[in-house]
Amino acid sequence: MNQEITKNRTWCCIGLMTIAVAAACSSDDEPAPASSPVGAAGAPATGVTTLQVNAQTPPVTGKDDIEAWLAKGDYKEWTCEKEPHNAKSPSPHGVNRVCSNLLVAQYKGQLADERPIGSASVKEIWDAAGEVIEGYAVEVKTQATSSGGASWYWYDRVAGNNVVADGFGDTGSAKSICVGCHIASGTDAEHITSEYSRDYIYTQVTQLECLNKYRNLLLGLRVT
Ligand code: HEC
Repeated sequence: MNQEITKNRTWCCIGLMTIAVAAACSSDDEPAPASSPVGAAGAPATGVTTLQVNAQTPPVTGKDDIEAWLAKGDYKEWTCEKEPHNAKSPSPHGVNRVCSNLLVAQYKGQLADERPIGSASVKEIWDAAGEVIEGYAVEVKTQATSSGGASWYWYDRVAGNNVVADGFGDTGSAKSICVGCHIASGTDAEHITSEYSRDYIYTQVTQLECLNKYRNLLLGLRVT
């Protein structure tokens, strides 16, 4: 009898935790509205954006700003992969963990559809042993249309403070390296690393992945 009560209490407790977890993984927070993508002079301009920087939206104004924003750790509250893993082909990123902001995590578009302006992903780049974060890669969509990758901001800093890319995808290494490969995301079986691999994002971390993380935690707590 007592055992029965204890068991019921445990399940009740687990039930309450489940509700809390569902809330933690929920998509109630509305993605921050993006302001209109116009340049300083009011004309549409590639590489110029009025996206407001906030917990969901990294700055697109260069290394110092993005590193300061990353150090605050807001992206860790996004929908993130459970743990670092080896690069998924054709990725050159090494051991990594991807976090998707709300606009990316909730995206359900078709292959040819555009992701919304403000879509952003952060990739933690880990050492080979998966113990220490050595760098970051970031991509942010700053206009309503991807325009061949030009409207995405690309940042990549690897071990040794080596900046591989820092800029918009219409020029330099952002274009030749990052866009050169991300443009293929979702286009064929070789270029799919998750459901909704498309529009320059390879790995879209979904709410489900977030829930799974806590489900495993709860299963670990269950009494037998
Ligand atoms: C040869 C292909 C390739 C190149 C070059 C490449 N990436 Fe990636 N990238 C991937 C793949 C595949 C993934 C997802 C899986 C993984 O990394 O394990 C990814 C993931 C990412 C992610 C996480 C969001 C997403 O799209 O999945 C970011 C951010 C990112 N890359 C940024 C960059 C930047 C910045 C550059 C340029 C310096 C770059 N990448 C160059 C293939 C590439």
